[in-house]
Amino acid sequence: MKLIAPQDVRRIALLGAGTIGSGWAVHYLARGMTLTLYDPASDAEQRVRAFIAKAWPTMCRLGLSAGADPDAFRIAPDPIEAVRDADFVQESGPERTDLKRDLYRRVDEALPPGVVVASSTSGLPMTALQADLPGAARYVTGHPVNPPHLIPLVEVVGGSATAPEVIEWALAFYRAQGKRAIHIRKEVPGMLVNRLQVALWREAVHAVADGIASVEDVDAAVVHALGLRWALIGPHLTIHLAGGPGGMRRHLEHLGPSIEDWWQDLGAPKLEPQVNEKLIEGIEAETAGRSYDDLVAERDALLVEVLQTLKQARGAS
Ligand SMILES: NC(=O)c1ccc[n+]([C@@H]2O[C@H](COP(=O)([O-])OP(=O)(O)OC[C@H]3O[C@@H](n4cnc5c(N)ncnc54)[C@H](O)[C@@H]3O)[C@@H](O)[C@H]2O)c1
Repeated sequence: MKLIAPQDVRRIALLGAGTIGSGWAVHYLARGMTLTLYDPASDAEQRVRAFIAKAWPTMCRLGLSAGADPDAFRIAPDPIEAVRDADFVQESGPERTDLKRDLYRRVDEALPPGVVVASSTSGLPMTALQADLPGAARYVTGHPVNPPHLIPLVEVVGGSATAPEVIEWALAFYRAQGKRAIHIRKEVPGMLVNRLQVALWREAVHAVADGIASVEDVDAAVVHALGLRWALIGPHLTIHLAGGPGGMRRHLEHLGPSIEDWWQDLGAPKLEPQVNEKLIEGIEAETAGRSYDDLVAERDALLVEVLQTLKQARGAS
C-alpha cells in the first residue's frame, strides 16, 4: 500500500466531535494541522468551538507548532465530504460497533488511496470494525487517553486485516504529531492503559470493601507515593531501581517470592450494592462538595504544570 509520508500530513478529518473528538481537534490544531469535522449533533459546532476556545490558552502555554491556528477547521455536512481531501482520518464517534461500521462503510469508497483511518475506540476490536470493508487494511486503532490534547500517550493496535505498514505508519504519524505512541501487539479487551488502571483500581476497591483504608486514604497512597514516581518511571523501572545496584535481577531473587505471596492475597471484589455505597460515600467525603467542573479544572491545571516541568527537565516536546 502506498501511504503518504507521516510527516507530510496537513489535512485531517475528524469523525465525531464529542469529548474525545474535540480534544483531538485542539491537539491537531496546536500542531498546525487543518481540520474538517463531521458530527451529526445539531450543537456539535457550538460545542467544539467552545471547547477549542477554552483549551487554546493552555495549548499556547504548552507550545504551538508553526502555523497553529485555532480557526483552521471547518464543519462538513456529511462524513464523505469530511474525508474527501483528508491525508488522515481520526474517528471518535460513539462506542458502538454498528455505528462505527456504518460510518466506515460510508467513507471507505470516498477516501483517497493510501489514507489511514484510526479509531479512538476504547474497547471495540478493530478486527470486528474493519471486517468486510474493501479498504480494511487501512483501518487501525489509535486510542488516546482523555484529554487527548494533554495526555501524550496513544495506543496503536491493528486488527487482523490491518496492513503491517499501516501500524508502522500510525506509530510514526502520532510520534510526528508529538505523541508518545506505543504498539499493543494483541487485541485484548482494554488494551494496556485501561487494563493497568483497572488492575490497580481492583485492589483499591478491595481495600475499601475490606475496611483496609478509606477511599480518601487509598487515593492519597497513589497521589503522594506511587503516582509521583509513575510520572517519571514506569512500574518495571520502579522495581529495577528498588533492587538497588543489582537492579531487577536482584529484586526478583530477593523479593520475588514475597511479591508472589502478596499477589495471591490481592482481592477480587464485586461491584455489589454494599461495596458501591462505600465507594460513593467515600468519594463524597473526599471531594467535600467540590463540583465536577472545579475538580476537572484543578486536575487539568496541575496536569499542565507537570507536563511543562517534565518538558523543561527533559528538554523534549
Ligand atoms: N471518553 C473517554 O475517556 C475516552 C477515552 C479514549 C477513547 N474514547 C473513545 O472515543 C470515542 C468517542 O468517545 P467520547 O467519549 O468522545 O463520546 P461522546 O459521546 O462524547 O462523543 C461522541 C460524538 O460522536 C457523535 N456522533 C454520533 N453519531 C455519529 C456518527 N454517525 N458519526 C460521527 N459522529 C457521530 C456524537 O454527536 C458525539 O458528539 C469512543 O469510541 C470512545 O470509546 C473515549
